[in-house]
Amino acid sequence: MSHRVAIIGASGYTGGEVLRLLASHPSVEVVAATSREYAGKPVSSIHLHLRSILGSLKFTELNIEKMASEADVVFLSVPSGVSQTLTARLLEGGLRVVDLSSDFRLKSPSLYEEWYGFSHSNPGLLSESVYGLPELHRDEIRGARLVACPGCNATAAILSLAPAVREGLIDLEHIAVDVKVGSSEAGRQPSHGTHHPERANVIRPYEAEGHRHVAEVEQELSALCGRRLRVAMVPHAVGNVRGALATAHVWLADDFDEAAIWRAYAKHYGKEPFIRIIRSGPVKYPDPKYVIGSNYCDVGFAVEQARGRAALFAAIDNLMKGAAGQGVQCMNIMLGLDEREGLRYLPISPV
Ligand SMILES: NC(=O)c1ccc[n+]([C@@H]2O[C@H](COP(=O)([O-])OP(=O)(O)OC[C@H]3O[C@@H](n4cnc5c(N)ncnc54)[C@H](OP(=O)(O)O)[C@@H]3O)[C@@H](O)[C@H]2O)c1
Repeated sequence: MSHRVAIIGASGYTGGEVLRLLASHPSVEVVAATSREYAGKPVSSIHLHLRSILGSLKFTELNIEKMASEADVVFLSVPSGVSQTLTARLLEGGLRVVDLSSDFRLKSPSLYEEWYGFSHSNPGLLSESVYGLPELHRDEIRGARLVACPGCNATAAILSLAPAVREGLIDLEHIAVDVKVGSSEAGRQPSHGTHHPERANVIRPYEAEGHRHVAEVEQELSALCGRRLRVAMVPHAVGNVRGALATAHVWLADDFDEAAIWRAYAKHYGKEPFIRIIRSGPVKYPDPKYVIGSNYCDVGFAVEQARGRAALFAAIDNLMKGAAGQGVQCMNIMLGLDEREGLRYLPISPV
């Protein structure tokens, strides 16, 4: 049986990546791809890498009633603040929603005021939405109507830390995460900071105070350890187009050593289809270079037992495990499909 999928905001980077993945998904048919700017134009006129792949599919204007009659699932690949205005009507139309934006990630409406500076227009749906990180919420995603996929920096930060936090291996009072992320995280529209001549070759901290993803990282890690946890987190823009690396600096609780950390990661991630634990080889820590194009998250760690500290790493492709790939993984789980369907792309190398 083929499931019918629509994408709102399909002209952007994550929308394009959803289109790429669904083009070869064996159980899905793309029935609509919306764009306000390019309505009427072939999808491949904007996503040049998809030329001759998506047949005659054209961008259309958004028409929710029509979409509800044509599709079963809709991806929202739109900027923060837009999904909250559309989602209730999509759900009322019987659609299941995979939102790649931040609008339904946080459980408390007050967090939107605090971190995003807006008053949420549909707070009633926040309790229903499920945070779309399968490694933490697979069972809830299964029955969900509304899944809110994590931010790319948040995905890397949470996956680097989750087993250590869950097993109580680290000092929960002192966690500092440094994330390096490529330019595609900022979306298709250039701004002063993201336009190529300004962004190329940078290693530039940004939002060093109040990065919005901190809110979801704290929400999810707090739920894992059952207490309110604070995280210091600073993202850095780097010159790569794709890729995000989280390095979490932590201090070991009690006498936990490298073997305990290894056991915790093997216990929680050993059966995860998209997590690889990296510990050896000429590059013995995770590097986004080796996951680009795939939905893999590589995790690893370095332990300085004598100093009682460790660095925990997670590397992803921000448009894949950090956005569209994770969204397709969630969609597969929602629809009862093998969660690897449409995601069997291996990393490409060299990149
Ligand atoms: N890029 C990443 O690595 C990444 C990772 C995780 C999550 N996300 C999140 O995913 C979402 C999309 O990101 P992106 O990188 O794909 O952004 P993008 O490249 O800027 O694309 C967003 C698309 O949304 C459409 N759009 C803008 N305003 C709209 C509105 N008011 N109503 C309907 N459509 C609107 C635009 O298309 P038209 O103007 O043609 O309509 C645009 O192409 C964002 O919320 C972002 O935070 C991104």
